[in-house]
Amino acid sequence: MMIMKILAIESSCDETACAVVENGRKVLSSVIATQVDEHKLYGGVVPEIASRRHTENIVGVVSEALEQASVSLDDIDAVAVTYAPGLIGALLVGVNFAKSIALSRNIPLIPTHHLRSHIASNYVAHTDLQPPFLCLVVSGGHSHIVLVEDYTKMKILGRTRDDAVGEAFDKAGRMMGMSYPGGIALDKIAENGNPDAFSFPFPKVNGSPYDFSFSGLKTAVINKIHQFSQKGETVPVADLSASFRKAAVNCLTVNLMKAVHDTQSKTVVIAGGVSANSLLRRSLQELCDKENIRLYMPPKHLCGDNAVMVGSQGYYEYLSGNIADQSLNAYATKSIEEG
Ligand code: KG4
Ligand code: ZN
Repeated sequence: MMIMKILAIESSCDETACAVVENGRKVLSSVIATQVDEHKLYGGVVPEIASRRHTENIVGVVSEALEQASVSLDDIDAVAVTYAPGLIGALLVGVNFAKSIALSRNIPLIPTHHLRSHIASNYVAHTDLQPPFLCLVVSGGHSHIVLVEDYTKMKILGRTRDDAVGEAFDKAGRMMGMSYPGGIALDKIAENGNPDAFSFPFPKVNGSPYDFSFSGLKTAVINKIHQFSQKGETVPVADLSASFRKAAVNCLTVNLMKAVHDTQSKTVVIAGGVSANSLLRRSLQELCDKENIRLYMPPKHLCGDNAVMVGSQGYYEYLSGNIADQSLNAYATKSIEEG
């Protein structure tokens, strides 16, 4: 079998990342330059700053990934790059850099969808995993239940009607004084709280059993925080975090398991930043164990944005003939079904 080394680039949000991945599954190197500390100062990602930092970091990050893999550009067979969805100015930095490498080396340019890549982080971690499977994709910008029929063929069964679950986590965390991204801090603090201290609504979307709605949950937690502050009382951060986390995770697991049953899926996968959530991982493991369903989760270091996952998905995009020319553009939004 021919060995294909892909140089992968990711710059959709606040991480500049580059990796070298062989045949979609073997990681030769992975470098991530995160800007999170700078964005923390503003309580969230500032797009203009993100683009500028990507521009400054990309040359160093790519050089380091090549060096770590002990290869030069001569050894690279193709370049894969995240081209959608994400912050447009941030995406453009990666896309233009990838285009220039592809042009100068005369190698294929592979446009890769960010959410498809999140799913692919599981291919790197679990070499036995192959489609078809049902996948919960949960990140800062998206919350999807996706039927992955093949590596490049997906069908969205459920999606959020308003906020993404990661966004709700971040907002709840921020309102309780946690630094960006609030989801990570909230998850930690929730471990020490009582998940039954407060009750939250379970928003259902009429007629769409797999769809989510997180804006009501977000407003409910904000209202609770305001109630405590208005009375001059200290906000019970641990209990509130634990109760909120329980409610949010419950929405995800209930809808996901319904989809699992309806599609008679025997393999379930989770992906995206929120797949690092401790309660989500524990709850799903329990639910799947009970029903003899195989559950695959990315290791924590591959849950967030990285380029390894781009190198993996890029390989399968390449095999399916998804190759771009120099007219490739970046897109802030694009459906995972289109790819
Ligand atoms: O996939 P990702 O790194 O970037 C996007 O593509 O959006 O996801 C980032 C999101 C943020 O909202 C962050 O708070 C959330 O993932 N996140 C978590 C946890 N770790 C990261 N949310 C809940 N619990 C966590 N442990
Ligand atoms: Zn992401």
